[in-house]
Amino acid sequence: MMKVTIFGTGYVGLVTGACLAEMGNHVVCVDIDAGKVERLKRGEIPIYEPGLESIVQSNHASGRLDFTTEAAPAIAHGELIFIAVGTPPDEDGSADLQYVQKVASTIGRHLQRYAVVVNKSTVPVGTADRVREAVAAELAARQATVEFDVVSNPEFLKEGAAVEDCLRPDRIVVGASSTRAVALLRKLYAPFNRNHDRMVVMDERSAELTKYAANAMLATKISFMNEIANIAEHVGADVEMVRHGIGSDPRIGYSFIYPGTGYGGSCFPKDVQALERTAHSNGYKARLLGAVEAVNRDQKRKLFDLLSRHFGGNLRGKTIALWGLAFKPNTDDMREAPSRVLMEALWQAGARVRAYDPQARGETSRIYGKRDDLVLCDDPSAALEDADALAVVTEWKVFRSPDFAHIKASLKNPVIFDGRNLYDPVMVESAGLAYYGIGRGRSTVSVKKGMSDDGHTERRADERARVEADLPR
Ligand SMILES: NC(=O)c1ccc[n+]([C@@H]2O[C@H](COP(=O)([O-])OP(=O)(O)OC[C@H]3O[C@@H](n4cnc5c(N)ncnc54)[C@H](O)[C@@H]3O)[C@@H](O)[C@H]2O)c1
Repeated sequence: MMKVTIFGTGYVGLVTGACLAEMGNHVVCVDIDAGKVERLKRGEIPIYEPGLESIVQSNHASGRLDFTTEAAPAIAHGELIFIAVGTPPDEDGSADLQYVQKVASTIGRHLQRYAVVVNKSTVPVGTADRVREAVAAELAARQATVEFDVVSNPEFLKEGAAVEDCLRPDRIVVGASSTRAVALLRKLYAPFNRNHDRMVVMDERSAELTKYAANAMLATKISFMNEIANIAEHVGADVEMVRHGIGSDPRIGYSFIYPGTGYGGSCFPKDVQALERTAHSNGYKARLLGAVEAVNRDQKRKLFDLLSRHFGGNLRGKTIALWGLAFKPNTDDMREAPSRVLMEALWQAGARVRAYDPQARGETSRIYGKRDDLVLCDDPSAALEDADALAVVTEWKVFRSPDFAHIKASLKNPVIFDGRNLYDPVMVESAGLAYYGIGRGRSTVSVKKGMSDDGHTERRADERARVEADLPR
């Protein structure tokens, strides 16, 4: 059992704290948000994350997980003191380190005995040195001689599967120059390493860069596939066939090559930008990262552009049903969500939105408040009422196999804009709906309705049906 203190009770801090308590450690979580701390003490979880509520409540009840706003006793408690506060983008795209710096100074002001300061926030290369300097400056100011180490321990959990990822990490990256600190982290993480050693120990700068490299790589895969989808549209190919074709190559693999409406969330957009800024301020122009961002910016407009084109450039007075608001399934997080770009563009064009999301309703209300052109619905079917078209934005499971006949009967204009390529265009067409996907060309319905097409789309649908029949199930 180890004594752990965690600054920040957001997605990372709260999940880490609960999982470390679950492993038998005594964890104290500190946050400056008094309201959040009060709610947590009552067993209320401020975010939606599968499996989190029960482990927070049970560990809090057993006394292994406490919440406080008071830094001094929390610092006295922890032999390991984690920093898990936000690092939002600054005006120029670089990571804003003010919250990390503040915690480092607070630690320096109150530290009385040796501890390891473990940085879990995603921070630019060199931040471990800055944290060390901030702690040392406060110790010097009160003429205290207390030993401490600073370690980089970036977090790789995914929102929506954060508890699972935290309990079963595929790697634990530790950047450290002190063997004493590494030994303490080995002890803390031993229960997570039973099957095999997942700890990858390296220097601090490499650990800091590893986190950015991981997110930049994943963002690159997404933008790459969206670029291929856009090319597919121009040349009359189906990106879903291409995805199967390239994913089967083990050097490429199937994961993270889904075309869609662009990446969002609290990490990829800001981390790609921050890495680009770090490179720039160190004298290197990261051309690939700039392109990844640019493709993503355009992709977030994709559904709006398709809708606008379908309605002849005039969306005024139209009502669009949106399925999915969170930036991805299994979360209520709306930060940088593609749905926001779509909704805001629709409102600007004079359209109204009826939306359903299994978890992000509260967050959407918090962001946009009450407005006449937004109705948040209780179920997917209610969102379709009086709507002219349906746009699927987030690939929640509940949207995967809908009743197309019901959708057709509900919509004034039977058309689906499938921002996640969830549906088989041929199946949608046979239900009498027009279909637009990402990188899948124009729908076969458009041909039958006599809209301009050279017959190419129909041929492709036939080819698709043949190829799909041959695909392994
Ligand atoms: N969200 C993710 O999926 C994820 C994954 C990996 C890494 N990260 C990184 O982890 C860090 C935290 O992300 P998050 O999503 O958990 O953030 P968050 O915004 O959800 O939570 C941050 C918390 O820190 C608190 N805080 C701010 N200043 C504080 C202080 N001085 N003392 C105590 N608490 C303070 C805030 O009140 C808030 O509750 C970021 O650097 C992020 O990039 C996030």
